[in-house]
Amino acid sequence: MDKKATWDRFYAETSSRTPTFKNFEWFFGFESVRDIIMPLLQTMSRPDAALRVVDMGCGTSALGPSIYRHSPVSVHVTCADISPIAVKLMQEHIQAKTIQPHILSSQIEFIELDCTQLDKHFSASTVDLIVDKGTTDALLRSREGKEKASLALKQCLRVLRNSGSLLQFSDEDPDSRLLWLETAAQDPGLMTADVGVQEVGELRGVQYYCYQVTPHLVL
Ligand SMILES: C[S@@+](CC[C@H](N)C(=O)[O-])C[C@H]1O[C@@H](n2cnc3c(N)ncnc32)[C@H](O)[C@@H]1O
Repeated sequence: MDKKATWDRFYAETSSRTPTFKNFEWFFGFESVRDIIMPLLQTMSRPDAALRVVDMGCGTSALGPSIYRHSPVSVHVTCADISPIAVKLMQEHIQAKTIQPHILSSQIEFIELDCTQLDKHFSASTVDLIVDKGTTDALLRSREGKEKASLALKQCLRVLRNSGSLLQFSDEDPDSRLLWLETAAQDPGLMTADVGVQEVGELRGVQYYCYQVTPHLVL
């Protein structure tokens, strides 16, 4: 689950099963986390500039497009994935569907990007919010992906503003995820982060969580 080829195959097969494009949602859709994301955007809002939002490992989920569409404040949403097939499907879909955002100045883009190299696309301390639905889970669950998950977390902390947040939506139990986050999010002398968790709710018998990581630069 940490291999580009695996995901390319997954999205090619999933899209070939239906004649028209259909978003594929890992875990759950936007409505399940709307009340977590929208108030956060409202509190982060700046009068002078759009908030920078990244959906890390977006796949063909409607999460990024829904944030773009419903955000009560101006946002620039970047949906990024390692799979060029997922990115192309999303680009074609958004062109065909023309979604009108609630705030006219909001923007959305889809890019191919490895989440262990976010700094190739984003400068340090420029992003307000990163959402990750199932991407870190996929990395942590593959034998060779654990190191990539730690690298991706460090990259998130690097590109996030000091007041920004990373939200990881996951089905992993807090006992293990909090321990991992609290260890992997520290960079002695350089970076520290606050880590919190809240329940998203239970769906089809599975309990889901939202892990929030907020970086603090050590001065
Ligand atoms: C479990 S799926 C979740 C997809 C989407 N977020 C959703 O909610 O449906 C994991 C996603 O992470 C992407 N991915 C895996 N490794 C990645 C990496 N190193 N960089 C960026 N995306 C990656 C996969 O292509 C896949 O789309």
